[in-house]
Amino acid sequence: MFPVRRYEEDFSELPRWWYGGDPVMTHYINGMNLVFPDGERFFIRSVRRYLDRIDDPGLREAVQAFSGQEGQHGAAHERQFRALESQGFEIESWMTWYRWLAYRVIEPSVPPIVRLASTAALEHYTASFARLALETDLLDPAHPSMRDLLRWHAAEEVEHRAVAYDVYVAVGGGYAVRIFGMVVATLTLLFFWRSATRHLMRQEQDLPRIDRKERRSKNKERFRRRAQVLREALWSYLKPGFHPDDVDDGASASDYLASIGRLHA
Ligand SMILES: [Fe+2]
Ligand SMILES: [Fe+2]
Repeated sequence: MFPVRRYEEDFSELPRWWYGGDPVMTHYINGMNLVFPDGERFFIRSVRRYLDRIDDPGLREAVQAFSGQEGQHGAAHERQFRALESQGFEIESWMTWYRWLAYRVIEPSVPPIVRLASTAALEHYTASFARLALETDLLDPAHPSMRDLLRWHAAEEVEHRAVAYDVYVAVGGGYAVRIFGMVVATLTLLFFWRSATRHLMRQEQDLPRIDRKERRSKNKERFRRRAQVLREALWSYLKPGFHPDDVDDGASASDYLASIGRLHA
């Protein structure tokens, strides 16, 4: 069983544009980070709701470890939010709106099995993005404090990639609802991620327009890779016999965790 690790990171030295001095890529990833902590608490709620219907002791244990890992991720990302605020960014108004719309309006209006299916789909996405973080040079230009946070998070996403999916299957979830859950998950993820990124970019008043354009085209390759990962994740998930372990053997995560001496805790 994968362990729950405590993660301590110091963001006091985090530069404003921590991704190689590039505001577009910085806020693109910051935007995703703003969505994470409450999203991960939603994953925990969605999976634990079915805990009393899981007979397999191994899967019950995995749900506990999954909840522990996701809780730690949320807490670590929220520590980065405090660093953003100390740099002068206003994030609270966006967070209030996001929490209200996603978890007060959308979540209660969706049946629990669709919430679980959406969680399984989003966990497939995070595990797919995790491979970008661990297996490519994507995070090389990042400040060490963010690179370490994102690689640690990525490795644990790979470790627990199958938990929500296995719970979904164990409680009798079928193919049609799984795919519907993926549609809901994809639309809401892209909507809130884009909105969070825009909220942060709007606060970069001093950035000349031409500069923004240039930087966007410079990052074309990275955006193209994200689109490619999303497409591959989508296609593999559409297969009726899909299982997360079929597309990933977890080697990238265990190699990384071993390299920082955190494989076992
Ligand atoms: Fe996570
Ligand atoms: Fe996760």
